[in-house]
Order: sequence, then C-alpha cells, then structure tokens
Amino acid sequence: MAQSIKGKTAYITGAGRGIGKAVALELAREGVHVGLIARTESSLERVAEEVMSHGVKASVAAADISDMEQVNAAISKLDDDLGGADILINNAGIGTYGPFLEIDPEDWKRTFEVNVFGTYYVTRAVLPQLIKKNRGDIINISSSSGLKGTANSTAYCGSKFAVQGMTEALMQEVRQHNIRVMTLNPSLVATELVFGDELDQVDTEKYMQPEDLAEHMVSQLKLHPRIFIKQSLQWATNPF
Ligand SMILES: NC(=O)c1ccc[n+]([C@@H]2O[C@H](COP(=O)([O-])OP(=O)(O)OC[C@H]3O[C@@H](n4cnc5c(N)ncnc54)[C@H](OP(=O)(O)O)[C@@H]3O)[C@@H](O)[C@H]2O)c1
Repeated sequence: MAQSIKGKTAYITGAGRGIGKAVALELAREGVHVGLIARTESSLERVAEEVMSHGVKASVAAADISDMEQVNAAISKLDDDLGGADILINNAGIGTYGPFLEIDPEDWKRTFEVNVFGTYYVTRAVLPQLIKKNRGDIINISSSSGLKGTANSTAYCGSKFAVQGMTEALMQEVRQHNIRVMTLNPSLVATELVFGDELDQVDTEKYMQPEDLAEHMVSQLKLHPRIFIKQSLQWATNPF
C-alpha cells in the first residue's frame, strides 16, 4: 500500500521555474510544505505565493548552490522556518553545450560547480536531518545525458554522469537509515533551459512538460517506504 506524503516537508533546489517550480506546486497540492532555493529571490517569492494558496507552508532562501557557505545558510534558514526536511529534490542545474575544444574552460568548470558540487553541497547540508529521522527521500535530477554521451555535450554529460555515480554510491551508504536516494533521467523537457525565450511557442503535446516530471516524482515519493525506484528514464512518447 502506498504512503501519504501529506504533512511532510520538501526542500527543492532550482524551484524558481521549470521542473523545480512544477514539483513544488505538485507537492503543495499533496499537502507537503516546501522550502525553495534558487538564486533569484523574486521568482522564488512568486512560486511561494502559489504554493501557499494550497494551504501549506513555504519558505524561500536565495542561494547559488555552487557556493557551500550560501548553501549552508540557505538550509539553515529553511530549517528554522519549516523544521527539517523529509524530502530533498536536487533539481537546480545548468546546461553547457558546444564542441569540446570550443567550450570556454570557465564554462566547462562552472557546469561541474553547479551540477555536481552544488548537488553535493546541498545534500551534505540536508543529509544529517534525514539520518537523524532515520528515514527520508533524496531525488537527484540527472538526465538522459547522464546515461548516454552525445556530441557537443562533454561538460553537461560529464557532470550528469557524475551525479549518477554520486547518487548510486550515496544510496548504498544510507539505505541502512531507510533513506531512498534516486535519480530521474529525463530526456528533453519543455523548459527555459532548452527553449529559452521561445518556450511559449513549443508544442505541448510533443514534448514532456515539467508537470509530467512533477507527477512522476510525487508517485515515486508515495511508494511504500520499503521500495524505491533507484533510477528511471523519462522519454517523450512521440516527439517527431
Ligand atoms: N529541460 C530538460 O530538457 C532537462 C532534461 C534532463 C534533465 N534536466 C535537468 O533538470 C533540472 C532542471 O532543469 P529545468 O529544465 O527545469 O531548468 P530551468 O528551467 O533553467 O530552471 C533551472 C532552475 O535552477 C535554478 N538555478 C540555476 N543555477 C543555479 C545555481 N547556481 N544555484 C541555484 N539555483 C540555480 C534557476 O534559478 P536561478 O537562475 O534564479 O538561480 C531555476 O530555478 C536541471 O538539473 C537539468 O539539468 C532538464
């Protein structure tokens, strides 16, 4: 039998738009209180307002996840406002594309700083709360690019493969505390990360929407605590 997640608390990174925003709203509909992290406070405030219209608590903390001090301060603020997390969704990430020799080394490095070190810093700050409760869920958003390399994606693929490895290793470490650590590996999702300013013109029937991913995450979180899907890959049915 599945479990109810009503009354739990989730911290979500990259919650200002795209997949992070969609999962914050979907969790709020399920009665989950949410802590929202991204760099832009104004977009977090807008999401928080929408979240609270579902009758749950929301707290925001502006932070660049690639900065460990900022992450520690953000998690401590969410902790003060909401109490410790039951669920962590490491969603914030950036994409860097181009031929290997043409990507600026600073951009290559930044991709790892956000996608890998950011995920590490946030997890490092939240994990003690879950261990203390002897239960919890961590969903890391990797990518189909974290399972298969593609041309012109060395920085992005490299960083997402790293998230994959880190997630699996951590999962093996903390299963004994009833903590489920898993990756989601979506292929193309219609967000600003992919379509930028042209997002409004995208055919919503053709591409996966952030809401589809959000529903999928909620269904995984509702599984009985004795089971989890350690890795899943989401594809659009007919993107042609
Ligand atoms: N869209 C896809 O096709 C797709 C496919 C597979 C995997 N993914 C992964 O899914 C995740 C979410 O992607 P998305 O498409 O929803 O992207 P998005 O629409 O660009 O949203 C990214 C979110 O992350 C935040 N963010 C970016 N850099 C940050 C940083 N350094 N510190 C804190 N927050 C930061 C952004 O807010 P601020 O700019 O205000 O910080 C924003 O809220 C990413 O990890 C991405 O790699 C996406």
